[in-house]
Amino acid sequence: MRRFNAALFDMDGVLIDSTGYHYQAWKAVADSMGFDFTEEDNERLKGVSRQRSLEIVLEVGGRQLSKTAKQRLLEDMNQDYLRYIQSMDEAHLLPGVRACLQALRGRGVKVALGSSSKNAGVILDSLQITAYFDAVIDANKTRRTKPDPQVFLLGAAALGMVPAECVVFEDAQAGIQAAKAAGMFAVGIGKPEVLSQADMVVAGLHQFDVDTLFFPL
Ligand code: BG6
Ligand code: MG
Repeated sequence: MRRFNAALFDMDGVLIDSTGYHYQAWKAVADSMGFDFTEEDNERLKGVSRQRSLEIVLEVGGRQLSKTAKQRLLEDMNQDYLRYIQSMDEAHLLPGVRACLQALRGRGVKVALGSSSKNAGVILDSLQITAYFDAVIDANKTRRTKPDPQVFLLGAAALGMVPAECVVFEDAQAGIQAAKAAGMFAVGIGKPEVLSQADMVVAGLHQFDVDTLFFPL
């Protein structure tokens, strides 16, 4: 008997390993402004929008910028990031991703993306995995960023599912909070001590057996 009918995937840190790049980019911003930005600080940026990330970085450094300076910085950062993802291909998929997506689709489970990135469409295309998704909800379609549940609720609605039918795969604390606020089952991707609010935690999708949740005995 099937326990859940839909899988909602975060993208950064779940399907691709872009976390290091984002961290380096924000650390460079902090360095240029003369303050420290640690990997622990970076946990707070995972899963939240680019704009919210900048607010957190400035908060960590106790700095303020004008609206225009913030806008310029965000645009510059994205130009750099777009250059980086131009060379992205299937080889950048994290281990187990394609096999997991194939197994879910092969068993008739609906699949959606629920990402805080505005670059999700182009990244899915570069990774050649767009065809696995029945719906793609990214930051261009939401007004509130994680930990708000909006992205996952829109994902479930696009698939014609209610929250109790959905499993969310997330590497970020904010994303796990969003999934739980949406009333969904949350699989944390990463370390249990960081993702303590998740319903279960695995190191990566290569360690996730689709049958465990979707077709339990
Ligand atoms: C999230 C990442 O998925 O997307 C964040 O976890 C990132 O670190 C956010 O800031 C926004 O991404 P983008 O591609 O719109 O800059
Ligand atoms: Mg993520």
